[in-house]
Amino acid sequence: MKKKMPLLEVNQVSKYFGVLKALDSVDISVQENTFHGLIGPNGSGKSTLLKAIAGEHYPDQGNINFNGNDITKHSPELRAQNGLNLKFQITAIFPELSVYDNILLSLQSSESFWKLVLSKSRASFHDRIMDTLARFKLVDRASSLAGELSHGLQQWLEIAMAVIRKPKLLLLDEPTGGMSPEERRATGELLLPIKKECTLIIVEHDLEWIKDICDNLTVLDQGKVLDDGTVKHIEASQSVKEVYTSRV
Ligand SMILES: Nc1ncnc2c1ncn2[C@@H]1O[C@H](COP(=O)(O)OP(=O)(O)OP(=O)(O)O)[C@@H](O)[C@H]1O
Ligand SMILES: [Mg+2]
Repeated sequence: MKKKMPLLEVNQVSKYFGVLKALDSVDISVQENTFHGLIGPNGSGKSTLLKAIAGEHYPDQGNINFNGNDITKHSPELRAQNGLNLKFQITAIFPELSVYDNILLSLQSSESFWKLVLSKSRASFHDRIMDTLARFKLVDRASSLAGELSHGLQQWLEIAMAVIRKPKLLLLDEPTGGMSPEERRATGELLLPIKKECTLIIVEHDLEWIKDICDNLTVLDQGKVLDDGTVKHIEASQSVKEVYTSRV
């Protein structure tokens, strides 16, 4: 049987910052409609790898294939147009706008000019926005200013802003950073249904949280892939255990 082509393939990617090798011949492969976790100690290169995939950094060596195309030299904008979106470690919402308008802006900026002008888009946008608000438990906060939401809800809003654009691949850098244990658990529950329509790469420190929602994991250590495979494989990995007990 022919093996399904991965949605994303990172091949031998290296990235230097001066003399520091932040990524050292990294390979990862992600199948469509799976959740892929990226874990590792502080400074191991997780965010740098996400930025290389999103085009915020260009690799010094190696290449990146997405959805059948070599995107290594594509700009972040072109990657986003083709369905590859990144949500940064730092929240990037518009605090002075309402929750509803934040989502509307995100949706409008992902549609082409002609679609905006020609379609009966306002009404269809409204339905999509209300659906998304409901999925992320934000309906009763629709008219609140985004800046007035709790940190946890701001993170959900930002994920909602990304999800409404229907990305094929969404990159989340520590989406549960700064959340309470209850908010973290709830975030896992909100993310799971997205798997039907979207593939995720999630950076996270907490192994317990990430193993519950991810299919596969890649472990980075000092810019190198220490191990990768299914959650079960990583849980049993001796080298991962050593890094986690000594350095995280
Ligand atoms: N723009 C940059 N310029 C110079 N060095 C950088 C830059 N970005 C990252 N680094 C360095 O590259 C290495 C990897 O950083 P990165 O942010 O990717 O790690 P991380 O695994 O995301 O860490 P954390 O868990 O703390 O978020 C670190 O040593 C960091 O100091
Ligand atoms: Mg990071």
